[in-house]
Amino acid sequence: MRVRTFGGGPPLLLVHGFPLDGTMWNPVIPALAQRWRVIVPDLRGFGQTPWPANAPPQTAADVEANRVTFSLNDFADDLAELLATLAIHGPITFCGLSMGGYIAFAFWRRHAKLVERLILCDTRAAADSPEAAAARRATAERVLREGTEFVAEAMLPKLHASAAFARDPAICAETHAVILRADPRAVAAASLAMAARPDSTGDLAGINVPTLVLCGEHDVISPPEEMAAWAKLIPNCRYVTIAGSGHMTTLENPADFAAAVNRVLD
Ligand code: MLT
Repeated sequence: MRVRTFGGGPPLLLVHGFPLDGTMWNPVIPALAQRWRVIVPDLRGFGQTPWPANAPPQTAADVEANRVTFSLNDFADDLAELLATLAIHGPITFCGLSMGGYIAFAFWRRHAKLVERLILCDTRAAADSPEAAAARRATAERVLREGTEFVAEAMLPKLHASAAFARDPAICAETHAVILRADPRAVAAASLAMAARPDSTGDLAGINVPTLVLCGEHDVISPPEEMAAWAKLIPNCRYVTIAGSGHMTTLENPADFAAAVNRVLD
């Protein structure tokens, strides 16, 4: 697993969204590394971490036939193993954006002892609707046949705020390029895993670590009203809106994002 580490201080694990890689954290790393030991992995099959050579691509037909070979729990367990490899045995702050947030819930269920705080960014507690899950299964089949271009075309307008395309065209072009580089096997497996993820709403009241919930003001994938509502169910939680940003808060408003995360330490 490819991992980059920066700075010093309490460990902060940054887990990227779908179908992206650890570079989505780049604009916030310099400010975060002043206060934290920042750990930035690429999940399996994304960025510079290869999809395991011996793992066959999971297909929608496999899932329908109950031959599930990959779930978000596997991403969570990869991260627990990564921390052990880095000799980080104490609890960490787990910060996940979007799919990284879904993985945060899986990590919380499986490795709560490793979690000192949670930071849940532009993500959802609810499971997919049946229609959304069916669309993801269709994406999984198509990406294995056609590659990632159609995924980039479909996702880009939802990942970035509409104003960002005029304001920061280079950033939006880079997101497009990152999606084109993703391994179709990983995109298929992650799509199927997200479609099958459980509803985490019932876990919220039991989260007994300090939690920060962050959302871009113009996020259309995990809208601010929805995030603010479920954030209230977590006992020790602060909710922050990141002004002017779409779903990709780290890229569109890195200053406010990093300030909100650093404030956790105060
Ligand atoms: C992400 O940014 O990780 C995705 O938008 C998550 C999703 O498709 O639900």
